[in-house]
Amino acid sequence: MGRFDSRVFVVTGGASGIGEATTRALVAQGGRVVVADLQAERGEALAAELAPAVLFIRTDVTREADIEDAVNLAVAQFGRLDGMVNNAGIVGAVGSIRDTTVEAYERTMAILSRAVFLGMKHAGRILCDQGSGAIVSLASTAGVMGALGPHVYTMAKHGVVGLTKSAASEFSAFGVRVNAVAPAGTVTPMTAALVDNDVAAITRGIAGDNPLGVACMPEDIANGILFLLSDDARQISGHTLVIDAGITTGGKAPGFYSQEAEVLLHAGQRTRQP
Ligand SMILES: NC(=O)c1ccc[n+]([C@@H]2O[C@H](COP(=O)([O-])OP(=O)(O)OC[C@H]3O[C@@H](n4cnc5c(N)ncnc54)[C@H](O)[C@@H]3O)[C@@H](O)[C@H]2O)c1
Repeated sequence: MGRFDSRVFVVTGGASGIGEATTRALVAQGGRVVVADLQAERGEALAAELAPAVLFIRTDVTREADIEDAVNLAVAQFGRLDGMVNNAGIVGAVGSIRDTTVEAYERTMAILSRAVFLGMKHAGRILCDQGSGAIVSLASTAGVMGALGPHVYTMAKHGVVGLTKSAASEFSAFGVRVNAVAPAGTVTPMTAALVDNDVAAITRGIAGDNPLGVACMPEDIANGILFLLSDDARQISGHTLVIDAGITTGGKAPGFYSQEAEVLLHAGQRTRQP
């Protein structure tokens, strides 16, 4: 028996990185998934590999009709909907706020913020009528602190944390839970693209920033998403689960905790190597 036997999910951005790992994990535990992504080649290959448990629909999350179609496909083809993962994302506008154009701002917000609102709107329509289900959206450590991502990304991800709380307060009355996860740097195509797709370099870089000294992988984030989708989290709603190896605690242990930890961490050394 899998944790998600006979349950149906939509995962936006499910063709790559964290979304792909989430899709694979849901299927491994009995779930069926509609992958809604812009990348048709990767999405179709994943659906072929995991058939009949996965369907792909080419989706641009900036278009409301596309998100509505993805949700409706789940119901039409799999007969129901139990959860939505609002995951599609980009780094978006980078650089000084003084140089950021309104066009770059609008595009970034459309993908990282408006699409999450639309995912909640259309999944919420089905789930609230049904009286059960769970929604998980991708925030980021940049959604709970400053200086951990570009400006517009930071704004959008803080918005995801806020909407998660307000949507949870509305949907609780219908038995629907709404949560978010906030990962720190994770090894995916999105972060690899920041270093010319050098996966080894991004893995080393992320491990170097991680207080535990171990690079965060998409499966680590998928584990958190699956927990929040599952009945194990039946009392949890409106919550943002930070998955960051302690980065947002301040990361490096000050000397008054342990002189040994301070020496190791501040020297960039760790007892456990990545
Ligand atoms: N990787 C990290 O370090 C990290 C950290 C914190 C949060 N996140 C968040 O996790 C989510 C997934 O990121 P990832 O690292 O797995 O990236 P990724 O690039 O591997 O995957 C993102 C997916 O989203 C899809 N996508 C992008 N724009 C789209 C659009 N308009 N319509 C439909 N699909 C679209 C892409 O095609 C891709 O398949 C994002 O929301 C990201 O902000 C990632």
